[in-house]
Amino acid sequence: MRTQIAIIGGGPAGLLLSEILYLNGIESIVMERQTRQYVLSRIRAGVLEWGTVEILRDAGLGDRMDREGHVHDGTAITWGGDRRLFLDIKKHVDSQFMAYGQTKIQEDLDNALQARDGAIFEEAVDVMPHGFDTDSPWVTFVKDGEEHRIDCDFIAGCDGFHGVSRTVIPDDVLREYQREYPFGWLGILSETPPLPELTYCNSPRGFALSSMRTPMLSRYYIQVPLDTDIEAWPDDRFWEELKARYPNEIAEQIVTGPSIEKSIAPLRSFVAEPMRYGRLFLAGDSAHIVPPTGAKGLNLAVSDVYYLSRALVDYYDNGSSELLDTYSDTALHRVWSAVRFSWWLTTLLHRFPDMGDFGQRIQESELDYLASSDAFQAAVAEQYAGLPL
Ligand code: APR
Ligand code: PHB
Repeated sequence: MRTQIAIIGGGPAGLLLSEILYLNGIESIVMERQTRQYVLSRIRAGVLEWGTVEILRDAGLGDRMDREGHVHDGTAITWGGDRRLFLDIKKHVDSQFMAYGQTKIQEDLDNALQARDGAIFEEAVDVMPHGFDTDSPWVTFVKDGEEHRIDCDFIAGCDGFHGVSRTVIPDDVLREYQREYPFGWLGILSETPPLPELTYCNSPRGFALSSMRTPMLSRYYIQVPLDTDIEAWPDDRFWEELKARYPNEIAEQIVTGPSIEKSIAPLRSFVAEPMRYGRLFLAGDSAHIVPPTGAKGLNLAVSDVYYLSRALVDYYDNGSSELLDTYSDTALHRVWSAVRFSWWLTTLLHRFPDMGDFGQRIQESELDYLASSDAFQAAVAEQYAGLPL
């Protein structure tokens, strides 16, 4: 087989790249390790920066998002037992964000791919990029016991944190930066009406977050130690702990019910540089991970794909390699800014094992300052909204 772009990984990054390339007359083939069912059922984040909303609309993926997504002007933060701030993004930076689950985006991308009969190999095993340091790269994989080879112009590594693409970049080229946080998030989905605003909570008992998917589907998280056994958290215990972390007034508004999903995710910051080696380009989680505080993960995957697709279109339309050559630097600039912001918000809102009462009061004082300073709120709002592409 031959194609222009071989795309490894059919998550949001891989499928969006394939879609934008298709709209620009560029051929691609996607290779995905998992089954379609598995990929479609993953529960992930749910907050879209406005830049992401516009990229998805431009890629023809706006219909259901605009119908079912919820536009928000800002986000709430609570701390200190009774304090609450509404961080007004619309007022400070004239932007908004959209609450729309990544699970739905994956469905929308899958529908668009099916509608155009796009090329994808699911359950592709032993996917391996080759020859990316030459002008004629190729990818091999096994599907249903049969070996395949795809020759291509470029390879896009969109295969997430555990993918193969990053690992084939030589050790003396690849630099990795990493921080693991000493806690995770225990999250539940429940068919109950969410709080009206996304509400982040700093509490001496640990961080909490109340988020939403639809008017009758809530997503809640609490910070837990890394060694937490999920079996030790039946629904009743979860709701009790969640409410204990929020100020009373807000706790009283939380509507409880049975959970329909429950999972624990560790928190990590990770960046791999460069995001390009020869004719291999990394995009999304294959190159970077952010802790979910601030909801930047999916937005970064989308901005990587925006830069990469723009560079490939320029290469095929105008014969210029300039944007391909600057892709890694351009993408990493935005990546590091989101990595810094997610790290900062994580540090401000979570209980760290060694911080003690002193650390708690420092966090509360910083939040008090945030509440009292328009300039500080504007700076945080600007980063929460997402820096321009
Ligand atoms: N071969 C083929 N496919 C692979 C391989 C491999 N060796 N390794 C991983 N994959 C697939 C995974 O099964 C997954 O479907 O690559 C896909 C990567 O998808 P994601 O992990 O979702 O990563 P990405 O597309 O970059 O999406 C960005 O934003 O909100 C965050 O982490 C969240 O998924 C989200 C991400
Ligand atoms: C979510 O809705 O899953 C969510 C929202 C905001 C975050 C992280 C996760 O910062």
